[in-house]
This record gives sequence, structure tokens and C-alpha cells, in this order.
Amino acid sequence: SSAQVPAKDDFLGCLVKEIPARLLFAKSSPAFPAVLEQTIRNSRWSSPQNVKPLYIITPTNTSHIQSAVVCGRRHGVRLRVRSGGHDYEGLSYRSERPEAFAVVDLNKMRTVLVNEKARTAWVDSGAQLGELYYAIAKNSPVLAFPAGVCPSIGVGGNFAGGGFGMLLRKYGIAAENVIDVKLVDANGKLLDKSSMSPDHFWAVRGGGGESFGIVVSWQVKLLPVPPTVTVFQIPKTVQEGAVDLINKWQLVAPALPGDIMIRIIAMGDKATFEAMYLGTCKTLTPLMSSKFPELGMNPSHCNEMPWIKSIPFIHLGKQATLADLLNRNNTFKPFAEYKSDYVYQPVPKPVWEQLFGWLTKPGAGIMVMDPYGATISATPEAATPFPHRKGVLFNIQYVNYWFAEAAGAAPLQWSKDIYKFMEPFVSKNPRQAYANYRDIDLGRNEVVNDISTYSSGKVWGEKYFKGNFQRLAITKGKVDPQDYFRNEQSIPPLLGK
Ligand code: FDA
Repeated sequence: SSAQVPAKDDFLGCLVKEIPARLLFAKSSPAFPAVLEQTIRNSRWSSPQNVKPLYIITPTNTSHIQSAVVCGRRHGVRLRVRSGGHDYEGLSYRSERPEAFAVVDLNKMRTVLVNEKARTAWVDSGAQLGELYYAIAKNSPVLAFPAGVCPSIGVGGNFAGGGFGMLLRKYGIAAENVIDVKLVDANGKLLDKSSMSPDHFWAVRGGGGESFGIVVSWQVKLLPVPPTVTVFQIPKTVQEGAVDLINKWQLVAPALPGDIMIRIIAMGDKATFEAMYLGTCKTLTPLMSSKFPELGMNPSHCNEMPWIKSIPFIHLGKQATLADLLNRNNTFKPFAEYKSDYVYQPVPKPVWEQLFGWLTKPGAGIMVMDPYGATISATPEAATPFPHRKGVLFNIQYVNYWFAEAAGAAPLQWSKDIYKFMEPFVSKNPRQAYANYRDIDLGRNEVVNDISTYSSGKVWGEKYFKGNFQRLAITKGKVDPQDYFRNEQSIPPLLGK
């Protein structure tokens, strides 16, 4: 509305006093579309009908972030923060509602400082995971960090929403290995662990991005890995017994020692058993023959390498190199739809048979299944906001890609249908989902009197956070009672508790 225009101009006027003009991009500026597009990973959110920011701010230091918050609050412009831009629903840079907002894009703040002696590192939110992994390995071949699989994911969003990859059974999620943060709060104040409340520190490590302030950097524990790890990828078609193997896998994989993770990527009529083992082929082979002989794993399947090589290997295949960890120009930008589930009871064998039917239908996507157990399941549910712990056998992610805007009808329908089909076989009351696999179909906040309501947030929030949702909302009520940092799925403030 026209009433907002002067406020926006005042916002820019406020910013230019504190932030160099070359770091500010107004919607009307010629560079704006490229800056916005740079880290959009889901092409669905590039199209013109999305509500875009009025400004993009690309800070190069913490005081720029503080100024953005102070100016935003003074002049009624909300901020959405973007680190790697991988949000499945694009909420770091687009709004579903018509709203005056600016994006604080952290991609210029990506320093990683490793302290090998102390086995810690400080990593800026704008670093991508591959840059963190690379920096760790450069300092030590026997230290690692348990975060996401895809190297271009932003540290900021991944850690804020949990963060897991092939080390989840050994070391749990990224967020539980964070020991300190630097964060700009809703008043523009810079806080760290010692100056924020214990609940605030708890909430930023897994309670989802945006809600609790802008995390500038994270201090993490680095964790030991052996000099050699072993990776295998064993594809099995339905003809080759994939159904029996998955049926066995769902009980075996979550019960194995934490040193081994065997996940499944099911696509078409094929299941690929993909594993990372913290050790050599020599000890992996007997472990597999004793625990999962049906898979037929033998030394010819072994790919031994340092841990750091396993990241590009698993993500891109045998030919990938360490340089791929640093590539910030990923051109793979499909149209995409994602959903997730948690499984506590083995899925009956006839259902696995039916699932391969689903995976070969028109519009079919793929299913990625990560086994839990070991460390990720041993941590108490309330230790961090991430509640998917004891008793979880595995996580399912349904992933669907298409490559032209008009081709979305069949894949979107398939995603809805398979999610409905799976309902009887997955977690219930609530039907759990992983916060970092954001799914707007689970619910959207309603805003009443300019505040997101607790009752609307509870609908999606208990799926991501179970019993931790209420504590997150109470914490939000204390640190941002006016709901300045918000999006369609931010934690609403629960006041008066
Ligand atoms: P983005 O910048 O879009 O931010 C995501 C959310 O966090 C937004 O709400 C944003 O506002 C907020 N946010 C970002 N930076 C913040 C900051 N500094 N302070 C506060 N809030 C901030 N996950 C996983 O755990 N394991 C995996 O293996 C994978 N694999 C994977 C592959 C691919 C191709 C994609 C697209 C995504 C994944 N994910 C994943 C999911 C991923 O972890 C999730 O999308 C993260 O939120 C992305 O973080 P970004 O910083 O890239 O996103």
C-alpha cells in the first residue's frame, strides 16, 4: 500500500548511513535479480508470482547485520535471513503473504577458523557445508563434523534446523555439536552463549531458522574419524531381491554399531544400499557377513578413502574431487517437492512391494531412507529441539524433481498420494517430520494482531518438534515477543507463560 512507501524509503535511508551502498540491492536495481537468484535452489520459487523482497542486504560484518535489524524495526520492514538458500519452500527469500520485507543474505560472511588443538572451529553461517568440511580436513585428516550430505547447503539454515548426514549414527546432528554461537537478536543486540538465556541457546540449536535471531557464526566440536573410511554403493533391483533386502534392512541397519550407516535410495525398481563405515574394508567385510549376509557385500564393493573424500564421492560419485566441496555455482536447480516421515514399526513386506509400484508410476519421485539408532537415538528428546530420537528405525524423505514449470502436476500429485498411502505405517499423533525438510503443506501460521498465533503454529510445529514445540514458543515469547523475525513456519511467541 502507498502508506508503506515512505517507511521503505526511510528504511533505505537508515541503512545507507551504516552499510556501504555496494552491499545494498533495491528491487529496482539492475543487479537485484541476479543477487536474488544466486542461491535459489528450487526453481519453483524463482517465478514472478512469488512475493519478493524489497531489498537484499549482503553484510560483510556483524555490525551491518545489527544495523539491518535496528533500521528494520524502526521503519517497519521485516527481515528474512538467507545463508545457503536451500530452504525447500524458499522461505528465506520469498513470502507467501504480501509483506514488506528485506533479505539479509549472509553469503559474503563465510570464514571458517579451525582450532586443531582444541578440536573446535568457528564457522560463519554463510559458509557452505563443503567449505567447513574442507577447512577441517586441511587442518587434520582425522577430524570431522556431522552435518548435511550436500556440500552447497548453508551452515546457517542446516545447523538451525538440526543437520544430519552420514555421521548421524556416530555423532548425532550438527546442532547438538554446537558449543557456542554469535547471534543478533530482535533488538539488534549481539549475544553469545554467556549473554543469552539457556533456553535461547537451546532453541537456536535445532528449533529452525529465522525465529530466534540471526546467527552470525557457530562454534562447533570437531569429532574424531579414522584416517580411512570405507564407502559402498550396492544397487539391487526388485528382480534381484530388493524387497526382501529392504525388509531385512529396516531391522538390521538401526541396530548396527554407530561406526556404520547404511542408507537406501529407492528409485524406479531399484534400491541402492549406500554405506559409510568408519574403518577399513578388512573389518567391514566380516561385519557385513555376520549382520547382513543377504546383501552379498564383499571386498570388491569397498572404496577406501579419507573421510573428506567420502563427501564428494557420496554426493557426486567416484569422479568427484575435493574442489567440488568449494563450488558455489551449482547449476542443478530443478523444480522440487519434498516430504518426510519417521518410522517406528517395521513396514510390512507387502507394503514394500507396493512401494516399488509407487516408485514406477508416472510422476514418481524417489525415497531416501536414513537409519537411526546408535547416538542419534540415544540423546534425550528434550536435549535439543530435534525430537526424533528413541525408537526411530529410520527417516524417509520423498524427493520429487521436474524440469519445466508446466511439468509439475504429476509429481505434485504423486507426492501427495504417496504421503497419504504411507500414513498407516509411519509415526502418528503427531505424524513427525524433519524441520530441515520444510513442508508448507503441514501448516502455515495465522497472523492475528500482527502476531503469529500459537494455535496455528502448533499444527505444523508439533510435527517438527513434538513436545519441544511449547518450550520453543515460550522462548520465542521471551526473546521476540513482537514476532519481528517471522515467516509462514516460524515459531510463534507464546506469551504470559
Ligand atoms: P536457507 O538460507 O534457505 O535457510 C533456511 C532457513 O533458515 C530459513 O528459514 C532461513 O530464514 C533460516 N536461516 C538461514 N540462515 C540463518 C541464520 N544465519 N540465522 C538464523 N536463521 C537462518 N538437510 C540435512 O540435514 N541433511 C542433508 O543431507 C540435506 N540435504 C539437502 C540437499 C539439498 C539439495 C537441499 C536443497 C537441502 C538439503 N537438506 C539437508 C535440507 C537443508 O538442511 C535445509 O534446507 C537447510 O535449512 C538449508 O540451509 P540454508 O542455509 O542453505 O538455507
